[in-house]
Amino acid sequence: MHLPPFSTVEATPADTAGKRRNPSVPDSRVPRPRRFLVCDPRHFAVQYVINPWMQPDTQVDVDLARGQWEALIRAYRAHGHTVDTVEPVADLPDMVFAANSALVLAGRVFGSYFHAPQRRPESTAYETWFKTAGFDVYRPESVCEGEGDLIPAGRYVLAGTGFRTTREAHREVQEFFGVPVISLQLVDPRFYHLDTALFVLDDSNIAYYPEAFSPGSREVLARLFPDAVLATLEDAMAFGLNSVSDGRHVFISPRAEALAVELTRHGYVPVPVDLSEFQKAGGGIKCCTQEIRS
Ligand code: ARG
Repeated sequence: MHLPPFSTVEATPADTAGKRRNPSVPDSRVPRPRRFLVCDPRHFAVQYVINPWMQPDTQVDVDLARGQWEALIRAYRAHGHTVDTVEPVADLPDMVFAANSALVLAGRVFGSYFHAPQRRPESTAYETWFKTAGFDVYRPESVCEGEGDLIPAGRYVLAGTGFRTTREAHREVQEFFGVPVISLQLVDPRFYHLDTALFVLDDSNIAYYPEAFSPGSREVLARLFPDAVLATLEDAMAFGLNSVSDGRHVFISPRAEALAVELTRHGYVPVPVDLSEFQKAGGGIKCCTQEIRS
């Protein structure tokens, strides 16, 4: 038998770095352009306490918040995404968290019904925007906080419950879209919305922090997404799971350092955007972003 000389065997770059290349990781992830709806943070403030991140008497640096928010919008546009804006309403300080206003799938809008009375008027403000933009809006009968708790992932909608959106609303979502809804039980009040503990990378994979979920829900996620990227508590506390992915680029908090390394290892490209000022209200990148899926 004739063997080639050792020196002709080429090492892949990953091999040279001391790690074997994972054959299931594509060399190049493909981004898909998105349409986002966002709300200017002009009236953003912490005026009430409805989650553990919000503290009484917190001062928000509005200029810093605006600068951080504008950097996010610039990053979206620089990566080819379309960004629409809704006019903010005075005295609705959380309206900047556009994700909570709806879930939009195939051009159909499932609106919101907020848990906290202070946020309820936001539903109407967003409904007005959607109607003007040519969408009909379904108003849920049960408490439901839009993409905060409802996350389309491939063939399913992943749906969080435990703190805000109810299981009754999950049933309404399934009935409205005719898409299988997977109910997931959130157990840690710091991760009160599903989008603080999990985000979708692309049509077939997600990233999440397992301990934010009940044991049964953890098992469901492991069955559905055996190759998921798992985050640490530090990543979750830095709001690293409140990220937005276009299938290649992941707009993510720069403070979620370990998660960024993991994502890179899986072939994604982290795009750091710091929304630290919004974390005073328990929000981050994804909270500020509603996706309009046509
Ligand atoms: N202060 C807001 C609340 O507690 C923050 C909402 C964050 N939004 C989100 N999609 N997680 O309702």
